Amino acid sequence: MFLVPLFASNLSTNKIGHRIEYLKSVDSTNTEIYRMFQNHSIQFGDLVFAEQQISGRGRRNNIWYSKPGESITCSIILKNNASDLLQKLPLLTGISIIKGIKQLTDIECELKWPNDIVYNSKKIGGVLIENKGDCLIIGVGLNVNENELEESIQKTTLSLKLIINRSVQRELLLAFILNHFESLMNQSLKSIIKEWESSCAHMETSINFHQSGKLISAKFLGLNQHGEATMKIGAEKKTITSGIIEL
Ligand code: BTN
Repeated sequence: MFLVPLFASNLSTNKIGHRIEYLKSVDSTNTEIYRMFQNHSIQFGDLVFAEQQISGRGRRNNIWYSKPGESITCSIILKNNASDLLQKLPLLTGISIIKGIKQLTDIECELKWPNDIVYNSKKIGGVLIENKGDCLIIGVGLNVNENELEESIQKTTLSLKLIINRSVQRELLLAFILNHFESLMNQSLKSIIKEWESSCAHMETSINFHQSGKLISAKFLGLNQHGEATMKIGAEKKTITSGIIEL
């Protein structure tokens, strides 16, 4: 059970997350928040949180698995009203999640480009950002109190509980994440890029990179001034805007 009053009393934002739509079960919070927005039942800055997702969606058409009642699966809807918001959001969402985790649990997670949350190279959470009309939907999935993860992802994923051997209060964690999220939104793209790079798990290291069905070996060089990834592939320096890195 997610206690909304406990979440609200730890939230210190001006605009984000003040109205929360708490659902027991939904197909996907990203899908639902946009439906609710179109029905005028929620507004920009509001949050949809679900205890269970029947059809959770990940990046690149992957399924997002989560255990009912044990993880954070939620979405926020924002108006795309700043020229660099779409560049900033994927980076600052990841940063705000690792800052919230550190604040509550002292666990030092890292970021895998563009916004996977990892610990010891294993995935703990991910972010799915969708752009519909003038809406930006930010979906966050985070493994929190799972004792065991879905069999197909057990080798590559972890939960916070599996790291520290105790349960974590999801209400506090989500409030802390959103507090960082809103304050990062007011920072420049340049400072967000710097902060992202300092938390990146694979700066200046050799990585394998999946793109268009191919596995490419590269060296990850960092982000350019637009927040795009730069990699050295063979002798060439390339800018990469999509794909999946394997650590
Ligand atoms: C990824 O790493 O592939 C992104 C995963 C994003 C999952 C979250 S859970 C809440 C929101 N609703 C969804 O269907 N997906 C996102």
